Amino acid sequence: TGSAATLRAAGQESSGRILRSGAALPKSFRVPLPVPQVARPVSTAGGVDRYEIVQRVAEAEILPGLRTQVWGYDGRFPGPTIAGRSGRNALVTIRNELPVPTSTHLHGGVTPPDSDGYPTDIVVPKGWRHAPADSGMSHGGMHVAADAWSVSDQAKEYVYPLIQQAATLWYHDHRMDFSGPQVWRGLAGFFLVRDDEELTLPLPDGERDIPLMLCDRAFEENGSLRYPSLDPSLKGRPGVEESYMNGVMGDVMLVNGAPWPELEVTATRYRFRLLNASNARRYRLRLEPGGPLTQIGTDAGLMARPQELDAITLAPAERAEVVIDFSRWKPGTAIRLVNTLGKGRMREVMRFRVTRKVRDESHVPARLADVQPLTGARVAATRTFDFRLTWNSDGSSIWTVNGRPFAPDRSLAAPRLGTVERWRFTSDFYHPVHLHLAHFQVVARDGQPPGAHERGWKDTVDVRPYETVDVLARFQGYRGHYMLHCHNLEHEDMAMMANFHIT
Ligand code: C2O
Ligand code: CU
Repeated sequence: TGSAATLRAAGQESSGRILRSGAALPKSFRVPLPVPQVARPVSTAGGVDRYEIVQRVAEAEILPGLRTQVWGYDGRFPGPTIAGRSGRNALVTIRNELPVPTSTHLHGGVTPPDSDGYPTDIVVPKGWRHAPADSGMSHGGMHVAADAWSVSDQAKEYVYPLIQQAATLWYHDHRMDFSGPQVWRGLAGFFLVRDDEELTLPLPDGERDIPLMLCDRAFEENGSLRYPSLDPSLKGRPGVEESYMNGVMGDVMLVNGAPWPELEVTATRYRFRLLNASNARRYRLRLEPGGPLTQIGTDAGLMARPQELDAITLAPAERAEVVIDFSRWKPGTAIRLVNTLGKGRMREVMRFRVTRKVRDESHVPARLADVQPLTGARVAATRTFDFRLTWNSDGSSIWTVNGRPFAPDRSLAAPRLGTVERWRFTSDFYHPVHLHLAHFQVVARDGQPPGAHERGWKDTVDVRPYETVDVLARFQGYRGHYMLHCHNLEHEDMAMMANFHIT
């Protein structure tokens, strides 16, 4: 695979093949940006917000004039946005009417273990006969003992106590061996947590607080989604196996499920909650022809203070909250959001068009939130997790953590509840490392300070080829089994995951 420098310089696109769509692709900036609907609770009695969401097959018009079958929460892609309140319980019942089992993970949630969306904690559809051995797109389920499965029939109530600060979280499918294809088909949505501290801030809100889910997809000629393992006609085609190994990328850029959309904005400030929900694609986002992105938040909360950046890098599952002040441009101006790691049309993401001047009462205060640096904390333990391709004796290779693929009954660490540990991640490729439950702060990349865009609470960190990344993680909330894994969804499906058990 070459030296670290070659791999990094090669950038994202040449490190994997991109699936090409057979369908005719639309012109850019013709489709208006959709904003996902906010879910309505079925009840708010007793300080508890109850939601009922049905996972089902639905049709969507993603490419103009074509019908695409999606698997969506409430049949939508992206799923409905759940608006949570810090300290208020949310109970979300997920009913599975899809043809396959699912597991729903609240990414960034401080969630009790039995509601965490563990890969083998599945909800099976009506009539599904669960055969523990029938998992396994890539590794045949051989690492999963039959008694590791916990099976709910048709529905499960997930408990989210939301004992955590305001943040942009998201929920998505996490089924063992199948997260890649199931998220690709549409199983992802936003879960926003708001708190009192945030609500006193004069940030743009209401219609000027917009979540942006970024992901890439490929399509068949008839409009259906194209994904290697879903499509037998792609099997054995050159490049397909290779693209699966490095993660699946497509040639259509979607924002909130719409291809290269446009958003009309007034000449005011807007708050955008950027989420990289792609299976494998990395982004380096900037405005063209230029202009600052004022970053106010990282994965797991607001930053201590805002900072002006001209580009923000997002690996899969990372979030960044930014404010863009459109009053710096004249009405009529079009500003593009681009991904400088993408080539050709994949360099374009979306476009903003400034319509008119209106009064704007919002601003970005110099102080946003209390972020206690963990660098002063007592470090209870230091551990290293190596994310790497490992060769089997028969010459095949697998993605591993510390040399082994995932096994539900094996735990690599047992941090104590309430402590802080230093975790070091090393890697041979692009591996976005995500911890369930624990939030962390990035303290060093190859011994250097972390990037400006990652100075705040995080739950996912972009680990690049041959890099060593140190984080300080706080193990808060609950005892029990949780996991860390690569959030390249194909690597995750190839068992690049490991357990830790909080005692
Ligand atoms: Cu967003 Cu374990 O995943
Ligand atoms: Cu990976």
